[in-house]
Parts: sequence; structure tokens; C-alpha cells
Amino acid sequence: MASIRILDPIVASRIAAGEVVERPASVLRELLDNSIDAGATKISVYLEQGGIKNLTVTDNGSGMSEEDLLLSCESHATSKVKTLDDLFSLKTLGFRGEALSSISSCSKLTIDSNSKRIVVDNGEKSSILPGSTDKGTSVSMEDLFENIPARKIHLKRPQSEAAECKKVFIEKALGFPEIEFLLFSEGTLVLHLPKADRQNRCVQIMKQDRAFMPAKILEMSFEGDNEKLYAISSDPSCYRRDRGQIKVFVNNRIIDSYQLVLAITNAYSAALPGGAFPYFYLFIEDNPALVDFNIHPAKRECKLRNQSQIYGAITNMIRNALIQKPQQEVRQEPLFPQGPSSEPSTWSSPSVSEKPSRPYSPSSKPFDPSWFENAKTILAKDDKKRAASEVSTTKVVPGYRYIGQLFNTFLLVELDDKVLFIDQHALHERLLYDEIKSLKDVQRLIVPYEFEVERSVDDFLQENSMIYADFGIELTRKEPLLWEMASMPAACRKNEEKIVSFIREQTGDIESAQKGLFAIIACHAAIKAGDELDSYTAKSLVEKCFELDRMVCPHGREFSFSITKEELFKRVGRIV
Ligand SMILES: Nc1ncnc2c1ncn2[C@@H]1O[C@H](COP(=O)(O)OP(=O)(O)OP(=O)(O)O)[C@@H](O)[C@H]1O
Ligand SMILES: [Mg+2]
Repeated sequence: MASIRILDPIVASRIAAGEVVERPASVLRELLDNSIDAGATKISVYLEQGGIKNLTVTDNGSGMSEEDLLLSCESHATSKVKTLDDLFSLKTLGFRGEALSSISSCSKLTIDSNSKRIVVDNGEKSSILPGSTDKGTSVSMEDLFENIPARKIHLKRPQSEAAECKKVFIEKALGFPEIEFLLFSEGTLVLHLPKADRQNRCVQIMKQDRAFMPAKILEMSFEGDNEKLYAISSDPSCYRRDRGQIKVFVNNRIIDSYQLVLAITNAYSAALPGGAFPYFYLFIEDNPALVDFNIHPAKRECKLRNQSQIYGAITNMIRNALIQKPQQEVRQEPLFPQGPSSEPSTWSSPSVSEKPSRPYSPSSKPFDPSWFENAKTILAKDDKKRAASEVSTTKVVPGYRYIGQLFNTFLLVELDDKVLFIDQHALHERLLYDEIKSLKDVQRLIVPYEFEVERSVDDFLQENSMIYADFGIELTRKEPLLWEMASMPAACRKNEEKIVSFIREQTGDIESAQKGLFAIIACHAAIKAGDELDSYTAKSLVEKCFELDRMVCPHGREFSFSITKEELFKRVGRIV
């Protein structure tokens, strides 16, 4: 073995930089933090080739003196922390004095502040030069990892890097609504978020999500001894199939917290169909003395000493908002500002609430009040008791009469002294779901389907790819963050993309990953609402329906209801 020697400072700083600088998005996170800490009220971000070629952040904050400019790229150089005690009363996002030093060791960094400029090219620092930014600071990173090919090959395609950068940009903007943010990519303005209050900033961001449906917004809050909670959420009629829009902030910094996300999803579980997750932005203001961010290189994790109180507070806050006073909590449309920003017209229409929702139940979503009422009732009920009581009413009952189809969506059945309404699409989906569960017909792909995943999904898959194997989905990890699908259920023929995009978003919860996958497979082949059915098909569906123990679709939604003869008679003033 060679003898021990002290590393060359440049090599040492590059190794240390690996912790902080992973890709353009991690650089962007650090530069935005610095602009925010400098008190900026307007921040612009410019990306070229997803930030790999150039990533520039310009702010109108305090700027730096010449002396500070010279020091800023040194390791452990910070204006934010002086003593150890300061770490426990942090008001700033930065505190290590490492970010600029790390970035400048693996790219060419130009910092322009208060009319002075400094350039640090892969660790080589220039003297002070004349600059062109007179108020505030502009930091520009060029050619990330150009001198470190071993790291450069791990960067993704520019579009993927740009998407990661946009995600970071959005997360920062959520934390600081009082700041105006602009994002330019390849010279084009892709996102402009004017200064707003917290609620409107959340709405600005929700609208950016492609799956977001116009929905009412729930606002909720809680105040404890050490912690204040505030959350904005879509009402349960608008949801996603993954947790991508559940975001938790502690003292304005986004964190990855499996525990707190679990508190949110658990509290919502009875109000949402299986495998569905809310849009939920939670802002926790915690006593800085109880929070430690100094445990993760990118500050994405933190230790909360009052985590169990916060967990309980989240649960109660959500349940109260869903059960007790939804009417007061729900704000009326239009919530979307009608300003000059480039909003599609669908968003600024005052009648957004009437727009059709997901294909699942097009006529009633998202503003079907009974659906919301149902969710509340389910929340209040004991799940097991409910299942037991329903078994008796849904067993095979001979002697029904099929009346016909209503709106090409419901099957109408007369049964004893009731009329039964059955959602045909949901019923068929449920039948297929059961069938797929028992059938495992697998199709091998001629060319395996390669796909990239985020780190959290990579971790999840490494531990849980077996759940997919159970369905005939064979997954292999080619390299970190790169996977390949070699086979899939035959029922999903030609739907590789859908399956892969589902897999790419699943983390954390095995049961909902399984349920969601079933639902996708089944939904793909199911009869849709709006399809006209012949009476033979309809009757065979109805008969199979009677064989089910519970009339619940794979998403967990009940798909039938009945009206009694007595109720009908009462409506017209008749006595039964
Ligand atoms: N946009 C900016 N405006 C004003 N000052 C800045 C800006 N960016 C950096 N600085 C100054 O440079 C110093 C070093 O920044 P750097 O990001 O390396 O460390 P930090 O923010 O103090 O800590 P961390 O490593 O946790 O981010 C900061 O403490 C700050 O004084
Ligand atoms: Mg910093």
C-alpha cells in the first residue's frame, strides 16, 4: 500500500464538491439560495443546454464588496454563520460556506457583483476585474464537469437536466412567494412567477403541473407551541397517481421526509381513491433550535426534534379540513390571477369549475358534491365494519330486471324494491382487474425499453422491483438511474410507455404501487363511460357484478348506488 499523503487542494476540493454539485439542478439550488439570502426581490435564471453549458442566476439583492467577492469562492467562506450557536438559530438558507467553492472547482464560475467581477476557472481564480452588474449579483456557471469526464458522463440529456432545474426553481419559488421569479431556457421565457401571496403562489405552481385539473383549493393551518403549519391543497376531486405534488417545506426549505409525507397520505387515504394522492404543499415554520439541516450535503433532509408533534398536527389539520368544515375552507373560483402572464385561456375562465375532469367519471367530476360527501362519510366510518355490512347486499341475487343504459354510462337494474345504478366503466374495470390478478400472461419485448429514473425511484426499485416481477414486468438496473424493462403483461400490449411512466413515478408505498399498476392495466382495456352497450353485454356485466363481494373499482371507488321504491314514491307524493 502507498504511504499516506495530503491531497493536492484542487483534488481535495473536487472530491468535496461531489457532495454538493451533482448536476446543474444542484448548482441552481445553491445559487438561488444565495440570491434569496442576499435579500433579492427579483431573481432570473437562464439555462443553456439544461444548465450544462451555462447556468446563470441574476438577482437584485445586496451584492458583494470587492473583498467579499475575492473570498466568496474560498472553502468555508461565509457571511452567514460565525459561531456554532448560530447554527441553531439559522435564518439563512446557506451556512457552510462551501457552495461557490465547490461549484468553482468543477466548472468555470463568473461572479459579477456591484460592478466588479471575478472568474474562477476550475479552481483557478482571477484577480478583480471590471464587472457589468451594478445593482445585485449575477453568477454564471459554464461547462459543468468539462474537466472531469468521469462525472460528465453521468449527466442526463439537456432536456432532462432542464426539467430537473425547473423542479428546483419551482420548489424555491414555492418557499418564497414574495420574490418574483423568471426562468429562461435557450433564450425563451418558460416560466414567470410574479410576486404573490402564499396561496396564490401555490396556485401558480399547481397550474404548472400537467395533470392538474381546475379544482377548489383547501387552505388549512395549525398553530402549536413551537411550530406553525400552513397548507394548501387541491380538494379530493383533483389528485395525482403519485406523490410528486406533495411537497413539505421546513422554514421555507423543501425537504424529503418520508415520515411527514406518510402523515399526509394517511390522513387523505379515506378521502381519495386507492393509488391517488393529493396536491399538497405544506409549510412548517419550526423553532430553528429544534431543526438541524446540517445532515445532508444538499440540505434536503433535516432532523426535527418535535417530529411526532408535527406528525400529529398534520393528521388533525387535514382531517379537520376534510371532515368538519370543508365549505368554509374551500375558496371559490376564480383563484387564478388574470394577469398578463402567459396563462392558457382555460385557466382564466371564471367557469373553470364546470370543465370536465378525468375520463373516469366525466359527467360528475370534479365538482360532484356527493362525491365529496361520500369521502367524508368514508373517513368517519370504520372500514372493516363497512366491508362486512356491504357483503350481504352485494351477493348474487336472482330475479333482477335489466332496464337499460342511462347516458351511455350507467346500467339500470331493478332489484327487489330498488333501482340500482351501476357505472359501467368502473364495473368493467373491476372485472378486468380481478381477471388480470389471476391471469399472468407475459409478453417479452423484442427491444427492451430503457428509461431513466430519479434517485428516489432508483432506490425504491432496487428494493422493490419484485412487486413488478409479480405482474410479469421484468426490470433490470443497467447503471445508476438507468433501468430497462424486458417484459410486461400481455394485457398491456403496446402500452409500454404508460407502464414505464407509472414505474418512473412510484416510490415509497408498495401497496399503492401494486394497486395503481393493476388499475392502469385494467383501465386500459375497460369499456368507457359513453360507450353504447348491447343488452347481452350489459346483462353479462350486471350478472358478474352481482358476484362481487363489494362494488368497488380498482381505484377504491364505489361504483354503484341504489334508490328505493319508497324514496321514488315519496318524490311524487305517493304512499308505497
Ligand atoms: N448572490 C449573492 N449575493 C450576495 N452575496 C453572495 C451571493 N452569493 C454568494 N454570496 C456571498 O458569498 C458567500 C459564499 O457563498 P456560498 O454559497 O459559497 O456559501 P454560503 O451561502 O455562506 O453557505 P452554503 O455553502 O451553505 O451555501 C456567502 O456567504 C455570501 O456572503
Ligand atoms: Mg450558499
